[in-house]
Amino acid sequence: MTKTTLEQLCNLYTDLQAEDIGILKNIASTLQLYADLSEAYMFIDCKMKDSEHAIVVAEAFPKSMDSVYENSVVGKIVFDSFEPGVFYSYRKGQKSVIRHAVTQEGKSVEQSVVPIKNASHQVIGVLIQEREVDSPAAHHYDVRGLPIGQEPIDYVMGGKSSEMPIVSDLLMEIFLLTDNENRLIYANPVGVKFVTEMSGTEKILYKNLIHLMPFVKPIYEQEDDVFVFELTLDQKNLIVKKVRLRQKNKTRGTLLIIQDLTELRMKEKELMMKSVAIQEVHHRVKNNLQTVASLLRLQMRKGVPEESKPYFEDTLNRIFSISSVYEIILANENSEDDDVNIIELTKKVCSAMVLSGLPKKVDLIIRSNGNTILTSSRKAVSIALIVNELVQNSLKHAFPEDVSGEIVVNFFSMKDRLELHIFDNGVGIGEQKASLGLDIVNNLVVNDLNGEFNYVPEEIGTHAVITFPVSPEVIIYYEKENIDS
Ligand SMILES: Nc1ncnc2c1ncn2[C@@H]1O[C@H](COP(=O)(O)OP(=O)(O)OP(=O)(O)O)[C@@H](O)[C@H]1O
Ligand SMILES: [Mg+2]
Repeated sequence: MTKTTLEQLCNLYTDLQAEDIGILKNIASTLQLYADLSEAYMFIDCKMKDSEHAIVVAEAFPKSMDSVYENSVVGKIVFDSFEPGVFYSYRKGQKSVIRHAVTQEGKSVEQSVVPIKNASHQVIGVLIQEREVDSPAAHHYDVRGLPIGQEPIDYVMGGKSSEMPIVSDLLMEIFLLTDNENRLIYANPVGVKFVTEMSGTEKILYKNLIHLMPFVKPIYEQEDDVFVFELTLDQKNLIVKKVRLRQKNKTRGTLLIIQDLTELRMKEKELMMKSVAIQEVHHRVKNNLQTVASLLRLQMRKGVPEESKPYFEDTLNRIFSISSVYEIILANENSEDDDVNIIELTKKVCSAMVLSGLPKKVDLIIRSNGNTILTSSRKAVSIALIVNELVQNSLKHAFPEDVSGEIVVNFFSMKDRLELHIFDNGVGIGEQKASLGLDIVNNLVVNDLNGEFNYVPEEIGTHAVITFPVSPEVIIYYEKENIDS
């Protein structure tokens, strides 16, 4: 039935020629045996004609397990965004492995994909092997139920006469088959490479596998017919599965399926090291900035001319604005990347400003308007400095007399841009003669945020607006409630 369906599907939905369909049919006929042998779900997908999608043309589910697939998926259309491994292998003609793929059916699986090529090396389909991630293979099950005898094994492994790339050749797991005297009688290409590497000899066929690789001895001595074992060897992480093959209660041989997890473990370690290193750099940046600030404070305390004090304060505030970014990143330990919450940052920068002079009764209101805005640390540094300059200006210049007033910092998000409004109800800016503060703001807005900085005329007070486009570095979430502070 599979064969007719495969042929019909290929004729209807793909551009494949009869010869190519023949190749796929041959592979499809071994799928069930392979699924049972490796306890994995097997599929063949083919690219559809006049479409970017692929279609499932053959499938096999292991008989020994409850299927994660409730229904047949043959004839189902496969989309690029759901199954990137399938399309990668198609496009590149190379195998791909995705450790945690989520299939179109929402199942979490480990997925290996290999391209199936015809005689002229064109990719005519892909062979997919999937294993459910959350349910490790049962350690003990009844081998007698498996349809394994010497003949089917020859069939799956392919005899010497086979011209076709046989299924086990296409897979990235190591397959080693030994006879009842533990002599190696079959190894797939990765298996040959593995045994050669481990034993240091190329003469491996018909040699006793325990002599070639002594570390398998305890695995062979294990009495269980099916045995799964995780092993670290020469800095390699391996999962070894042993299946003893019996016929009429007599051992006919042993099949070892070995998965090499070394690369995966190394990648995990690398990632961990990377994030540790980045955290460390953030720590150092923060500490160095704090040292610089302490030195300035020390200098101020040792005595500086009264008229220089405001310059020291301005500088201290600028340094503090930058170090606030790193404090937020470091406080957020669970976060995997260095995204900074801009509202939190604004609150931090404003709450710690140092300003000498007359005590003023000024209310500072920060409105997020229901947005959570996250940006990369680089952009966050610019935003912190801009907020610092503009809020300082309002504090310093808007209320010359000791009058009470209000400063509002407001974030509005539009579809493709973000607006930052800072206004006060003070004396108004009058004619602008920019000095360092406004120069800094202008520079950062234009050069770093690719945005615009303007003053909006108001009857009372000063209203500064900064607009910049939302880029991949700026993420906005909408919250239900407004958080004012
Ligand atoms: N919110 C405001 N209200 C009233 N006047 C303002 C306001 N913001 C800026 N100004 C005026 O614009 C001028 C330029 O501001 P700018 O921030 O460039 O310089 P500064 O604040 O005087 O010094 P610094 O370089 O330390 O920031 C100020 O000196 C002030 O006269
Ligand atoms: Mg200023």
